[in-house]
Amino acid sequence: MHRMAQRSALQFDIVAKCCTTNARAANMTLPHSVVSTPVFMPVGTQGTMKGITPAQLESVGCQIMLSNTYHLGARPGPDVLKEAGGLHKFMNWKRSVLTDSGGFQMVSLLALSEVTEQGVKFRSPHDGSDMLLTPEHSIFLQNVIGADIIMQLDDVVSSLVTGPRVEEAMHRSIRWLDRCIEAHRHPDRQNLFGIIQGGLDENLRRECVREMVARDLPGYAIGGLSGGEEKDAFWRAVKVSADLLPDGKPRYCMGVGYAVDMVVCVALGVDMFDCVFPTRTARFGHALVRNGQLVLKQKKFANDFRPISETCTCSTCRDYTRAHLHCIVNKEPVACHLLTVHNIAFQLELMGNARQAIIDGTFPAFVTTFMAENYPDHN
Ligand code: GUN
Ligand code: ZN
Repeated sequence: MHRMAQRSALQFDIVAKCCTTNARAANMTLPHSVVSTPVFMPVGTQGTMKGITPAQLESVGCQIMLSNTYHLGARPGPDVLKEAGGLHKFMNWKRSVLTDSGGFQMVSLLALSEVTEQGVKFRSPHDGSDMLLTPEHSIFLQNVIGADIIMQLDDVVSSLVTGPRVEEAMHRSIRWLDRCIEAHRHPDRQNLFGIIQGGLDENLRRECVREMVARDLPGYAIGGLSGGEEKDAFWRAVKVSADLLPDGKPRYCMGVGYAVDMVVCVALGVDMFDCVFPTRTARFGHALVRNGQLVLKQKKFANDFRPISETCTCSTCRDYTRAHLHCIVNKEPVACHLLTVHNIAFQLELMGNARQAIIDGTFPAFVTTFMAENYPDHN
């Protein structure tokens, strides 16, 4: 099948490759910023990052944030966003944005959703009315929001489901991708990514990659993972997908943000990640560190006058001790803010360090050191 190349508003320049793994470092030029990859993208659900302002996000070095079409479509809604001139202006964020298409959020958040060939049907949590999110409407909303990268509406099933439903969802995602491509009004300034589905079945993953790569999109995501499957099955699904995706385009593993998972996926050739975990765990009073998390309410921190991390360059680690954070955690909103700043800085720094190691030719040693720190009992 011959298809015309899709227009794109993205340039992906690989600056270094690891010689023993598939890791690569690249500069991804988007309409609003150049993004250094591998990259972690923090998630701001309602067009705002919980616990941190756009200016603070910029000061920790964040180049791209993620938002959700489903939430933004409900509030403020397309009319207000259009009047504001898009999400960037509405929230005063000058760097890049990626929006997820909405279906995944509805299926994972709303028990009453139902998928048909038309789209995802759900009962509105706002007024209880029946709503239908079609591929066309998701793209309409994402065109109004104006993100630099927009995602196709996909049919997502839990990675724990097996049988014909997995294959049906994969084929439906391909059909919905074609409807998204058709509906997309701004391919010259917004990059539409396809999302590889197929569950844990390697043949379905391969078929999905082949079909989507034939559509010649600006980039591709690997979806349907990080839902409680075994690590081994997760990595295999990422590997079969990444191995068949084109070298010269970005690869995005959706919903993945645990440090160990990201490091392994970078080695498999993945460039982009997002996850609510770092910001959500901050709100529970947990600080990310190289070998796990500090639960700051624990008594042992009451007279620990070190920063969360001696090596972190964030403003929280510069200005606050564990003892002070212990004292205010789960009581003062500012504690949630301070931990959000640190946790986002931690994720960005981890990917920044991986990138530097790829460039320096020391990525294999980086992985070895990282694994030794995280699994000290294995040698
Ligand atoms: N977020 C995490 N996984 C997925 C997925 O498979 N599809 C979409 N659209 N978003 C996701
Ligand atoms: Zn810090």
